[in-house]
Amino acid sequence: MGETEEKKDKAVPEPEKPAAEDDYDSPGAVTRRRFLTVTFAGATAIGLGALVAPLARYAYPILKPEVFEKLQVATISSLTPLGPGVNFEYQEIPAQLIMLEDGTPAAYSLICPHLGCIVKWVPKDSLFECPCHAAKFTPDGAVAAGPPPRPLTKLTTKVDGDAVYVEGVEPEEG
Ligand code: FES
Repeated sequence: MGETEEKKDKAVPEPEKPAAEDDYDSPGAVTRRRFLTVTFAGATAIGLGALVAPLARYAYPILKPEVFEKLQVATISSLTPLGPGVNFEYQEIPAQLIMLEDGTPAAYSLICPHLGCIVKWVPKDSLFECPCHAAKFTPDGAVAAGPPPRPLTKLTTKVDGDAVYVEGVEPEEG
């Protein structure tokens, strides 16, 4: 082998590509461009999420109405018209079932619609009374006195044989 061939083998290495170009082509490398792209995409996704989440929350009850449990709370034979009521909790809300003068059962949330105190059924006066600001409600839940802006929230009742069930919340009137 001659000296010339030996020189051919020791050919001058090709110049390396510029570092930035190499980094951009290699899959795991983080370039400024890639960093900015990912950051911008992340910020856009968070922004869209913040915009869409409240809309989805607003739409959710329309798309899927709340499911209420059916709960037996009393028997007809244990109630007397405008007599003592039966206390119970419905969907974690304190509530009471009474029998109206005509023998119909009626159930209400005991949360006062004024500022949320717990009202009490007082059979001797035939009224629900609030201890906080002296509100009074008739047996059908209407405001008889005091500051509450609306009646007691009525629960839906159903009689099946002797059993009285609560199975939902009646929509507010008006
Ligand atoms: S909270 Fe019941 S009257 Fe004010």
